[in-house]
Amino acid sequence: MTVRVALVTGASSGIGYATALAFARAGYHVIATARRVERLAQLEAAVQALPAPHGDMLTLACDVQNADDVQNAVTQALARFGGLHVLVANAGVGQRGALVDAAWGDIETLLRTNIDGVLHSVRAAAPAMRAGGGGHIIIISSVVYNMVTPYTAAYAASKAFVSSIAAALRLELAADHIAVSDVLVGRTTSEFNQRRLGHSGYSERAARLPRMSAEYVAERLVRASSGRGGRFALRFFDRLIVLGNLLLPGLIGRLAMRQYK
Ligand SMILES: NC(=O)c1ccc[n+]([C@@H]2O[C@H](COP(=O)([O-])OP(=O)(O)OC[C@H]3O[C@@H](n4cnc5c(N)ncnc54)[C@H](OP(=O)(O)O)[C@@H]3O)[C@@H](O)[C@H]2O)c1
Repeated sequence: MTVRVALVTGASSGIGYATALAFARAGYHVIATARRVERLAQLEAAVQALPAPHGDMLTLACDVQNADDVQNAVTQALARFGGLHVLVANAGVGQRGALVDAAWGDIETLLRTNIDGVLHSVRAAAPAMRAGGGGHIIIISSVVYNMVTPYTAAYAASKAFVSSIAAALRLELAADHIAVSDVLVGRTTSEFNQRRLGHSGYSERAARLPRMSAEYVAERLVRASSGRGGRFALRFFDRLIVLGNLLLPGLIGRLAMRQYK
């Protein structure tokens, strides 16, 4: 039986780390990529410590801002494991601060990571999946994708971008038997807040919002990878936020302003 192969970007911490581990536990061969290779070595050790049977893992240094790095990850997946069935385009970074006052370097890094990074990942992975008869692309979006978000506007817009292209890709890639999911992830325990670019303050109100564990998100992504694709949130609370964004954008925007300012 063919072992399925998953490529996870941003696998050195948080959701990506847990997702790479969860795919290996589920028997997938996994290519786990990020820039912090010492963290990837820890991930590899965690896979080795899993009870058998589990999939193999190949870890690779990869900056998703660089199309050649991402293409190399796909090439290595094909060379080592003979195919590619799942992409989790997860690598991402936050940015906070007033749009007109924020450092341009922070906004540029955000856009190059969250937008270019997803485009590079999809454009490298889809041809390999097409050649292999199909696959599933999972794009990590956010509940803020349709939210009015003063002081974290560029981040929310980057998630709106990836959810928008996911909707188009679902149609473009259907004939190639490639399913596409964009997952509206809600607040999750990870290194995201510590590593966010720009203003680092964090409101009491935000700290009280319920969090998911990265492991919970990871299990749901593994399950979703054998589904039909689509746009979905992972818990009732996040579905309420997305609905609130649609029905009461002004109110949600004012609440977000208190949280992010
Ligand atoms: N945590 C939340 O509450 C939450 C909510 C909604 C959506 N999300 C989304 O979930 C995804 C994962 O975030 P997380 O919460 O797990 O945060 P995290 O712990 O900070 O993980 C972010 C990952 O992205 C990688 N990354 C950042 N820039 C990269 C680059 N240029 N090239 C390659 N990898 C890069 C990091 O690896 P290196 O630095 O080692 O490269 C790290 O592995 C992001 O897309 C984020 O927007 C998170």
